[in-house]
Amino acid sequence: MNNSNKARVDFASKVGMVLATAGSAVGLGNIWRFPVMTGQSGGGAFLIIYILCVIALGLPLMTAEFIVGRHAHTNTAQAYKKLSNGWLWRKIGKFGVFTGWFILCYYIVVSGWALDYFVDALLGKFSRLAQSGDPDAYAHHFQSFVQNPWMPAVYALVFILMSHFVIVKGVKKGIERFSKIMMPLLFIILAVLAVCSLFTAGAKEGLTFLFRPDLSKITFKTILAAMGQAFYSLSIAMGCLCTFASYFSKDANLVGTAVKVGIIDTIVAIMSGIIIFPAVFSTNLSVDAGPSLVFIALPNVFHQAFSSMPLLGYFVSVLFYFLLILATLTSVISLHEVPTAYLSEDFHMSRTRATTIVTVSVIVVGSICSLSMGPLKDLTLGGKNIFDLFDFVSGQIFLPIGGFLIALFVGWFLQRRIIYQQLTNCSTLPPRGMRSIILLLKYFVPVAIMFIFLSGLGVFDWL
Ligand code: TRP
Repeated sequence: MNNSNKARVDFASKVGMVLATAGSAVGLGNIWRFPVMTGQSGGGAFLIIYILCVIALGLPLMTAEFIVGRHAHTNTAQAYKKLSNGWLWRKIGKFGVFTGWFILCYYIVVSGWALDYFVDALLGKFSRLAQSGDPDAYAHHFQSFVQNPWMPAVYALVFILMSHFVIVKGVKKGIERFSKIMMPLLFIILAVLAVCSLFTAGAKEGLTFLFRPDLSKITFKTILAAMGQAFYSLSIAMGCLCTFASYFSKDANLVGTAVKVGIIDTIVAIMSGIIIFPAVFSTNLSVDAGPSLVFIALPNVFHQAFSSMPLLGYFVSVLFYFLLILATLTSVISLHEVPTAYLSEDFHMSRTRATTIVTVSVIVVGSICSLSMGPLKDLTLGGKNIFDLFDFVSGQIFLPIGGFLIALFVGWFLQRRIIYQQLTNCSTLPPRGMRSIILLLKYFVPVAIMFIFLSGLGVFDWL
């Protein structure tokens, strides 16, 4: 995005602003990672902690990023530099840039899977698999795809190139218009699928798993996973939303926007859970199957939901994967943009050159992540292959550290005057909730993140 303040364009409408920000938030994090994490971490108990993390940690942090972004009116790496000359604070932006690049490297692999599923749906492959009558047909299909050394890498490549071209051209005009149509459509399809999944054989078990908390399953690991997932899904804790906020208009209500984006994002995640878990319990998939969970369960959802109307099922599945790709693309763009803006502005490169460097490096590292599902699957550390390590390190180490630093920065070091100005839009809004937001950012958020982080990593296990 353009850094020259004169040329900056604001989002044209409030709805567009909320939906574009929600477009960055809603992505594979909601539709793929949320059910995977919920499945691995015990269902309902995870959901409760997740929602608590969104409210108590996610929303204050999102507001903090909005404050920094709209005030600094520039990209992430620059924003923290502009607002402070402390050594550590100047690094927050850079750390966010690195985290964005790191997440992108494996995010793009899953995006490639989504693209492959779109092509397969379009070619009617899933209908044929359904007719084969083999209950494990979808699992075989997924496994043979991800273990192939070439195809997943090719799809990931296509995906990053799509993002590359959008970014080279600048994202401002497209992104708002795009989100306004895509988000409501995605919502409608998810709602239809969620209703359909209530009629499947595993509906009762699936919903019980998702909504009935078994509190005995809560450990510090679960809480760390839920916190990381909340940050991941809301696109916070690495400064990404800062860039979006720099496009907000002067009269946009920052807290209100954070709450709206948080609600949309959480509803999409829960809808995805309502769609996936009944399907998982209708087949012999195990809920803790990991990254493959959603990709094996989804074609089943379509098959079961539309078994009496296969043609309608075909169209809905094609449309669904299409929207999934669009939702993923908006998130990929928001991740791609952060390192690109940093390179082009801090190293005075042309946008094309900066984008190319990011794209090529992501392709190289992304291919290694992709191969870790197949030929490199024996290369593991602590039982995790490279792909899982990227997911774990970014979600459960980098994002908590980023969130911790952002909360400390805004809570302790950013001038009160700036916070006041931003939250009240220069005294045109009542300063409602401002004190509690500052208190949360100052004490609760950093202490909670630190405690959850250290205990989740087992630092207190010896006690
Ligand atoms: N929130 C996105 C998702 O749910 C992923 C994402 C985009 C992200 N930008 C981010 C995650 C910044 C963390 C930080 O798919």
